[in-house]
Amino acid sequence: MKKFSIVIAGGGSTFTPGIVLMLLDHLDKFPIRKLKLYDNDPERQEIIAGACKIILKEQAPDVEFVATSDPERAFTDVDFVMAHIRVGKYAMRELDEKIPLKYGVLGQETCGPGGIAYGMRSIGGVLEILDYMEQYSPNAWMLNYSNPAAIVAEATRRLRPNSKILNICDMPIGIETRMAKILGLSSRKEMEVRYFGLNHFGWWTEIRNKEGKDLMPQLKEYVAKNGYAVEGEEAEDSWNDTFLKARDVYAVDPTTLPNTYLKYYLFPDYVVKHSNPDYTRANEVIDGREKFVFSECRKVIKNQSTQGCALHIDEHASYIVDLARAIAYNTKERMLLIVENKGAISNFDPTAMVEIPCLVGNNGPEPLMVGKIPQFQKGLMEQQVSVEKLVVEAWIAQSYQKLWQALTLSKTVPSAKVAKDILDELIEANKEYWPELH
Ligand code: NAD
Ligand code: G6P
Ligand code: MN
Repeated sequence: MKKFSIVIAGGGSTFTPGIVLMLLDHLDKFPIRKLKLYDNDPERQEIIAGACKIILKEQAPDVEFVATSDPERAFTDVDFVMAHIRVGKYAMRELDEKIPLKYGVLGQETCGPGGIAYGMRSIGGVLEILDYMEQYSPNAWMLNYSNPAAIVAEATRRLRPNSKILNICDMPIGIETRMAKILGLSSRKEMEVRYFGLNHFGWWTEIRNKEGKDLMPQLKEYVAKNGYAVEGEEAEDSWNDTFLKARDVYAVDPTTLPNTYLKYYLFPDYVVKHSNPDYTRANEVIDGREKFVFSECRKVIKNQSTQGCALHIDEHASYIVDLARAIAYNTKERMLLIVENKGAISNFDPTAMVEIPCLVGNNGPEPLMVGKIPQFQKGLMEQQVSVEKLVVEAWIAQSYQKLWQALTLSKTVPSAKVAKDILDELIEANKEYWPELH
C-alpha cells in the first residue's frame, strides 16, 4: 500500500493535535510516511509541534515528522495539504465579532460583517498556501477547511480555477452525527442525504437509511420540539443555544431541515440580544479550547510523554481521511462539498459556489444533480451568494464601493448607513491584513 506525505497548514491550530491523533488512529485505512506541520507563526506552532512529535514517537515512530515555517521544506514532496489557517488569529476574530455588535449588528466568525472581514483576510493566506503547493508539489491536493469557506472557495474559483483544491465544512457532519443519535443509528454513515445550499447556509431535503426508508418524519418531529439539542452531546453554552435554536429555524420552512448557521440570517435580532458585546465566542474559545490545548501540549513537552494527557482523538474530523481516501483510492464516496454549481441547482447561478452532495474520486468531485430549489431558499441564497461574490470582487479590485455593497446586501445588516459605519471601523482594524481599498 502506498504511504502518503501530508502537510498540515496552520500547524499551530487548536485543532492540530486532535487531527494528528485522528490520522494516527486511521493509519490502517490511510497510511502515512511523512507528516509535516507548517505555520507562519513559528512560536505558536512550536508548542503544538513539540507535543505532536512526542505523540508520533510513541504511536508511530516510523512516520517522519517535520515542523517548519519554511514553505519550501513544508510543501516539497507532499501528496496532501490539509489547510486550517486563521489569518489574524483569535485577536482578529474577537474584533470581527465585537465591532459589528457596537452598531447593533451580530458578530460572528463566518456570517455577516465579521465573516466578510475574515474573508478579506483569508483570501490572500489561502492563495499563498495553494501557490506553495503548486510550486513545490504540483500533483498534490489541498483539502481546505480554513474559513470563511464560502468566500475562500469563491476566491479560488475566480483566481485559481484549475487548482486542485477541495473546500469542505464539518457543520453538516456535526449535525448529521446528531441526527443519527436522534434516530438511534450507530453512525451518520447509515444515512443517505440530499442537501443543498451555500456553505453555512443550507438545508436537508431528504434523509433515508440504506434500505431507502424515509427518516425525515421522525427527525422533523424531534427537531420541531428540540432542534438538534441531543442528550449526551452537550457542548459549551453558545453551541447548545445554537443547536436548540434550530427549532425556530426549522419552523420557518418545515419542508426541510436547516443548517444551524441559518439562525444568524433568520433571527439576527435574537442573536444580537443574546450576545455579550464584551465577551463573545472568541473569548470563550481563548479561555476554553485554546487554553486547554496549549496547556496540555506544554505538559506533554515537559513530561516528554503523553501519559496523563487529556488531548483526545478528533474522531469527528475523520471526514478529512474519508476525503483524502476518496482522492487517493478513487472510492467515489458521497460527500457534501463546496463546488461550482454548473447547473446542479438548475434555477440558480451556475457560477455560484454551492454546498451539495458529490461523488469524490481521483479526479476530484462529481457533483450530483439537485434540480430546482424553492423560492424561499432561492431568494435567500441569491442575496447571500451576491454578498460572497462582492467580497471577492472587492478584494480583487481593492474596491471600497464593492465591499460597502457587500455589507449593505448582507441580511444581517439593516442599512447602507450602518454598513458604512461598520466597514470604516473594520478597515481601521484590518489595516495589516486587507488590501488597501480605493
Ligand atoms: P487557530 O488560530 O488556533 O489556528 C490557526 C493557525 O493558522 C495559527 O497557528 C496561525 O498562526 C496560522 N496561520 C494564520 N495565517 C497563516 C498563513 N498565512 N500561513 C500559515 N499559517 C497561518 O485557529 P482554529 O480555531 O484552530 O481554527 C483554524 C481554522 O479552521 C479557522 O479558519 C477555522 O475557521 C477553521 N475551521 C473550519 C472548520 C470547517 O468546518 N470548515 C471547522 C473548524 C475550524
Ligand atoms: C463549526 C463550523 C466551522 C467553524 C466552527 C467554529 O465547526 O463548521 O466552520 O469554524 O464551527 O467553532 P468555534 O468553536 O471556533 O466557535
Ligand atoms: Mn464550517
